[in-house]
Amino acid sequence: MAHTAEQHQSGTETAPGTGSLQGPDVRVWLNGRIVTADEARLPHLTHAFHYGLAAFEGIRSYQQRPGQGAIFRLREHIKRLLDSAHIATIDAGLRFTLDELCSACVETLKANRLDAAYLRPVVYIGEGAMGIGARDNPIHVMIAAWKWGAYLGEEGLQRGIKAKISAFQRPGHATVMSKAKINGQYVNSIMAKREAMACGADEAILVNEQGYIAEASGENLFMVQQGRLVTPPLGMNILAGITRATILQVARDLGVETVERMFARDELYCAEEVFLTGTAAEVTPVREVDGRRIGAGSRGPLTEQLQRRYFETVLGREARYASWLTPYSI
Ligand SMILES: Cc1ncc(COP(=O)(O)O)c(C=O)c1O
Repeated sequence: MAHTAEQHQSGTETAPGTGSLQGPDVRVWLNGRIVTADEARLPHLTHAFHYGLAAFEGIRSYQQRPGQGAIFRLREHIKRLLDSAHIATIDAGLRFTLDELCSACVETLKANRLDAAYLRPVVYIGEGAMGIGARDNPIHVMIAAWKWGAYLGEEGLQRGIKAKISAFQRPGHATVMSKAKINGQYVNSIMAKREAMACGADEAILVNEQGYIAEASGENLFMVQQGRLVTPPLGMNILAGITRATILQVARDLGVETVERMFARDELYCAEEVFLTGTAAEVTPVREVDGRRIGAGSRGPLTEQLQRRYFETVLGREARYASWLTPYSI
C-alpha cells in the first residue's frame, strides 16, 4: 500500500496529545474563531441537536511530508456543504463564503498541528425558539479535526470487508434529499450500519424503493463486470460522492470503461469485484455480500490498481491531479 501505517491506525479516532477527541489541546473553529473544545460545547437547547436540521461534510487531509499536509478536493467539499445548507434552507443565516470556509478548514488543521486529519464542518441551527418551525435562531458553523485511521479498518483496505444488503432502504426522492448531507437523514444509515454489524458484517448496502442497489451507509458502491467499472447513476437517490467522481475520472484516465447504470443484488453477487468509495472509507474492497463470496474473495486486481492510484493521488505523488490538493504547513 502506498499510504503509511501512521495515517491509518485502523479505525482509531484520536486528537493530539490526548488520545481522545476531547482534551485541553483540541481546537475548534466556531463562527470565525478558534476556540477550545470546552468553548465549543453545545447549549442543551440547540435546535439541530433536537431535530437534526444541519448540514455537514467529511473531508480528509493527507501528510505530504512531515509538517506538511494537503486537503483533498477541499473546494468541492465546501461547495457541497453550501449546497446541502441551501437544500436544508439554513443557508440564509450563513455568514461565511466558500473561500472563507476553505481558509477556516486550513486554520483548524494548523491550530491542531495536524498534517493528516479528518475534518468535520457542520452548519447548524442554534439555540432560541424550540418549535420545529423556528426561523430566527442563529445559524452556527463549527469545524472539528482529528486523526482518523482507515474507517473500515486497515485489514479491510487490504483484504476486503463483508457487506450485508440492509433491511433498511435508501429513502426515495420524495422522502429525503439524498444529494444533501443533512444530519437527520443519517438516522436511517446508522440503523442500517448497526443492523449489518449485529449480523456480523462490516458495512450495510442499501437498495432503493425498487430494489436497485443504491449505496452503502456512508459510501458509494462500484462493481467490476467483464472488466468494466459499473456504478449506480446520479439520477438515483445516492450521494454524489466526491471519491466516486475521483475514481470514475482516475479509471477513465487509465483507459478503463465506466458505466453508470442501475443494477440489483443478483448482479452484485456475481460481480468480479466490488468496492466502496468515500472520504472516510477511501477505496475499500468488498470480499463478501450476504455470505456470497465476491470474485476470488479478496481484493480484486482493478480495485487494487484504483486504490493504489487513489492513495498516490491524495499523497501528492500524481502530478496530473495536483490541482485537487490544497497544501498547507502546520
Ligand atoms: C451516504 C453517503 N454516500 C456516499 C458517501 C461518499 O461521499 P464522498 O466520497 O464525497 O465522501 C458519503 C460520505 O460522505 C455518504 O455519507
